[in-house]
Order: sequence, then structure tokens, then C-alpha cells
Amino acid sequence: MELLANKLSDINFLTSSEESKKNYIRLVERTAKAITGSFIDSTSYSRLTPQELNKAIKVDDLLPAQGIGEDALFEKLEKQVLPNMLRTSSTDYMAHLHTLTLVETIASELIIATYNQSMDSWDQSPAATEIEVEVCKYLCKLYGYDEKAGACFTSGGSQSNMTALMMARDWFCNTKLNHDVKKKGLPANYSKFRFYTSEISHFSMDKSCHTFGLGYDAVVKVPVDSKMKMDMEALEKLVAKDVADGNIPVCCVVTIGTTDYGSIDDAAKARKICDKYGMWLHADGAYGSAVILSDTNSGRIGDLSVCDSITVDFHKMFLMPISCSAVLAKDDANFEAFELHADYLNREEDEEAGYTNLVGKSLQTTRRFDALKVWCAFQFHGKDGYSSIVNTTMDNAHYLYEQLKADSAFQVFIEPEISSVVFRLDASDDVNKIVRRKLIHEDGIVIGQTVYDGKTCLKFTLLNPLVTHEKLDSLMAEIKRLGAASK
Ligand SMILES: Cc1ncc(COP(=O)(O)O)c(C=O)c1O
Repeated sequence: MELLANKLSDINFLTSSEESKKNYIRLVERTAKAITGSFIDSTSYSRLTPQELNKAIKVDDLLPAQGIGEDALFEKLEKQVLPNMLRTSSTDYMAHLHTLTLVETIASELIIATYNQSMDSWDQSPAATEIEVEVCKYLCKLYGYDEKAGACFTSGGSQSNMTALMMARDWFCNTKLNHDVKKKGLPANYSKFRFYTSEISHFSMDKSCHTFGLGYDAVVKVPVDSKMKMDMEALEKLVAKDVADGNIPVCCVVTIGTTDYGSIDDAAKARKICDKYGMWLHADGAYGSAVILSDTNSGRIGDLSVCDSITVDFHKMFLMPISCSAVLAKDDANFEAFELHADYLNREEDEEAGYTNLVGKSLQTTRRFDALKVWCAFQFHGKDGYSSIVNTTMDNAHYLYEQLKADSAFQVFIEPEISSVVFRLDASDDVNKIVRRKLIHEDGIVIGQTVYDGKTCLKFTLLNPLVTHEKLDSLMAEIKRLGAASK
């Protein structure tokens, strides 16, 4: 017993004891110092190759018989891990829809981890449940829904999209086929179900249909026009042809900010087609939904309240730590798809008495209190603060596009609608690929790479409001220099 007590005395928890509080504050400060100590210059990455990195982070024994203790652990973190972490707040990082984080939302993460609330039942997260409910109500209002609407936080855009598509499928089976899919499973004609989305939409639609047992063939890829937006005439033709062929149109997904180009599909036109054919309309706003907070550009995303459901990702353009996303439904009743009761968790009699158990709205059971980040960031920055963030990034994209267009060393194709710019050096695919790798390993600069019209392209995903026009000029100059050296 004594031996066990000795061992436990080395283990730290935050309790009401003064000693534990002192230790908590000390450890948080030590961690913050270790993190800030790794921000040694303005680059985003240590430049190591995958092989060098693997060697650098290796430890002899991941689970040693005796723990190594705090000092030795911090030594390893400070020498091996932190210096090699990607620094997303660097203006040299612009590869993906993955962002730097507002410092006050990092403070929210500390609160989230310390209290470790689980959002599945009220008795595991009383205040957190009430906050998530309030945040969800506000979000529904923000995107133009009325009080019939509802929302729930998820782990990210992929899960938000899957949740929405599952609601669409269940709604379709229940209301159009009079088939209780939740109880009976898929109907006999399920292989004819069709979900329409543009050919450049996010692959979470394919993953969702695979998960639902419908398969990739259920996803009809609609061509895009010259601005990379879903071609609405082509959508209508494809739906009409499917109906003529005996297939069953269930849902259309418009993308409000495609992953590569930030192009925005026309939700209003898609609504008309969905109404004509009795389909659900989902807006994947994982990227572009933040544009609603811009004082001058919010009209660009259209009126999303015409959609039956909307994905909003806060860990993209809203600059919050991963994970943080929400799925909104115009009619809260559609979340019924996830409602199940367990005696030990979410008793119906408690819910009737006003205890909200959010497990009934989610694919997850144990779930993080991510809504706190939205609550904190919205209060802290307000509409004004967010408007400047969004406008700055959109202005940067416009500036970069104009500079690239005017420079014969580059080719640029699509005028950005939000904050991503796809371009290439006027050189071979190989040169473009080599330049991106050299940027990482020679300069510590990380940018994106994709394919446009069969050609390898480079991509700047400009979510960082600290990026300036001068910074963009210097990056273009560096890309040209590396391109010339790589021919
Ligand atoms: C348009 C779009 N939808 C959905 C997703 C998936 O979001 P997540 O990575 O949060 O799952 C992404 C990711 O980049 C995206 O660009």
C-alpha cells in the first residue's frame, strides 16, 4: 500500500489543494515557455526531410519501465519535438485550409482540456451543454434560419458533411419512400440513390456514401464551369437523366468555397432544382462560411438559409484550434436521425424535466466542448474583428492574383473568390514540384500543390491575416529564383 501511495504522489492532477494549484500554474507556464522558446525565427518549419525528422523524434523506449519525470520529458520535448513542429502562425505557411490560431482560443483549449467536459449528457457538462446550445442557436440565426432550426458541434467538416448527408438520406426515406431507415436499414432500391456534388467538391461526400453502404457510385460528380463553380445546367440535366433512367435523386451538395480555389456554388439556383425534384440541399461551407462576417463581402456566399443544412468549420477561416466545426439543420427535427436512449446516459424523463443531453444530436458519444472556442472568440473579436480578418485575407488573394497575372514568369487561372490562389511557374510540372520541395527544405516555407487542367500547380491558401503585400512579393521572387535554379 505504501509503495502504491509513493508512486501516486508523483502523479499530477489539479484539485482544490493549494499545492496542486501551484503545480498546475507552474506546469502551464513551463509549457508556454517551452513553446515560445521554439519560435526562433519567422519560418514555418525546421527544414528537415522525412528521414531526418524520423531520426530526430525517435526515443529509445516509448514506455520505459520507470517514468523519466518532468525535467527529462521537457528536455526531449524542447530538443526533439517542438523545434520540428510546423508553426502555423508563420507567414511562410500557406499550404492548406489549416490555420494559425487566435491566442484567446488557445486559452479556451486549456479550459476545455482542464475541465474535460463531455458533451454527451448534461450531468457530464452542465454549463458546457447550455453554452453549446446557446452558440448553436446564435449560429442558426447568423445563417438566416428561424427558431425551428438546430445545430450540433462535430469533429470537423468531414463529420459535419456526413451528419448532414445522413439527415438527408433519412429525411428522404421517411418522407418520400415512407421507409423507416433507422429501424429497417436501407430500402431495397437503395443502390439507385443519387447524391449530386461538383467534381471538385470535398471527398467527404464519397466517404460518407461509402460509409452509408451506398458506395461511391451514388455520388454524381457535376462538371464545373470556367470559374470552378458547379454548372447548374449540367446539374439539372444529370438529375433529369437519372430520373429517366430510374435512379433516385436524394440530395445535392453545393460547396461554399472549394478546397483548392475557394469557388462558391450558387445555392439559390441549386435550391430551385432541388425543389423541382424533391431533393435535400446541403451547403458545405467548411471553408467559405466565415465570409458571412465580412462587412463588405458577405453577399459573395449567397443566402445559405435556402439550404436544408450547412457545414461551418471554425478550424479554418475562423482561426480556431482543431477540432471545431458545426452542422446546422433548417429543421431541428432532422437530428432525430441520431437520437437513441440508454438507461445510464440520457434518460427520457430527465430530458422532459429540462436536462438537455446532446448525445441525441451527434454521431459521437464522448465529445469535446469545442463550442467554448466560438463563444470566446465571438465575444472577444466581435463582428468587426472578424470582418477585418476575413477582408485582409481576401484582399491579399486579390493582390496576389493581380501580381501573378502581370508577371510572365507565372500562369494563373481562376480569379479568387475567397482567399486561395492557384498558379504555376511557366515551366514544366517537375520544376513546379521541385520548387515546392525546395521551399520546404531550403527555406522552411510551406505552400500548397495541386493540379489544374492536368498541370501541376502551386497554391497559396491565404488564411493568415499577418501576411502583407510585401511578403507576397518576396515569396513570388523566391519562387522565381528557385524555379530558375531548378531548370
Ligand atoms: C470544402 C471542404 N469541405 C470539407 C472539408 C473537410 O473538413 P475537415 O478537414 O475539417 O474534416 C474540407 C477540408 O479541407 C474542405 O475544404
